[in-house]
Amino acid sequence: MEKTIAIIRGDGIGPEIMAQALAVLDVVANKFGHTFRYEEAPMGGNAIDAFGVPLPESSLKTCLASDSALLSAIGGPKWDTIDPAIRPEKGLLALRAGMGLYANLRPSKLIPQLKEASPLRADIVERGIDFMVVRELIGGAYFGEHKTYQRNGEEAASDVMAYSQHEIERIVRVGFDTAMKRSKRLCSVDKANVLDSSKLWRKIVNRIAEEYPEVEVRHMYVDNCSMQIVRDPSQFDVIVTENLFGDILSDEASQITGSIGMIPSSALGEGTRGLYEPIHGSAPDIAGQDLANPIGMILAAAMMLRYSLGMPAEADAIETAVNKTLESGLRTGDIMEPGKTKVGCAAMGQAIAAAV
Ligand code: IPM
Ligand code: MG
Repeated sequence: MEKTIAIIRGDGIGPEIMAQALAVLDVVANKFGHTFRYEEAPMGGNAIDAFGVPLPESSLKTCLASDSALLSAIGGPKWDTIDPAIRPEKGLLALRAGMGLYANLRPSKLIPQLKEASPLRADIVERGIDFMVVRELIGGAYFGEHKTYQRNGEEAASDVMAYSQHEIERIVRVGFDTAMKRSKRLCSVDKANVLDSSKLWRKIVNRIAEEYPEVEVRHMYVDNCSMQIVRDPSQFDVIVTENLFGDILSDEASQITGSIGMIPSSALGEGTRGLYEPIHGSAPDIAGQDLANPIGMILAAAMMLRYSLGMPAEADAIETAVNKTLESGLRTGDIMEPGKTKVGCAAMGQAIAAAV
């Protein structure tokens, strides 16, 4: 097969980890007889430097013309003080919206070889961690009206968290469909004791639940959910929630696995084209030092092969190679343990590519 992949190399450690993911993809292409065409789509701080905007129109076009897009991570202190209207994050939000990617799937799964790295108590970890956060990605407070203004002689600010019925319905369906492919337990997270947008959310979840009689549904307030994630994560299979809650809960959900550098995520809309990225940030503090863990990025590439490019065997090959490499004892600094071999970003990537 021939596939075009939009490549967003990003900022900070982004270019280093992307280089490793592309090296792995090249090996996969070779082994399985595919051609991957990489089209550069600058976005984030580097795009601000080069083009004056975080998402040049040409980059969005490139992504929309591709079979799928692969992103590393964006942002950094260099752009923290610039005009908020063109911050790197704006590029990411505009890309998600421009590609219509309303469904963000973020797995939280304990990798057995790394269970010592979890910050949770051993008896909690023993019960297992394996759930998926399905986060709404292009609505809610992120995309409502943002305003800073004067009120009673002082500065005030507001951000509107608005959801229309169809926006809730489509993401809730993704939640149910995801639950159907897993162990059929869905937890919908909201703040329906306070927020109208959550009351509507809950009403729609209950209505759509009737279409999925096999799925066991429960509702949980977001504050309780954040507590339950650390108290007993084994209770969760699929969590579906709105944008801001999902942003917060998915960071918590990844951290408890002890290996935020290892987790990929997907963002999808109506078609098969998606945006795949590791869930960690651009880690400017270790950029350019060959210290980053490229595994989250490499697994994001695998996820892309599986969900957007229809290449499950190829995705399996990458995931198996990652496991083998960890089995062999190689570790980057973030997941280093006594008795293992510490390697840099490039060596880890090369070992995985070789294992494919
Ligand atoms: C994420 C990030 C982004 C978000 C930021 C960089 C805008 O935290 O992907 O979770 O809040 O969605
Ligand atoms: Mg986040």
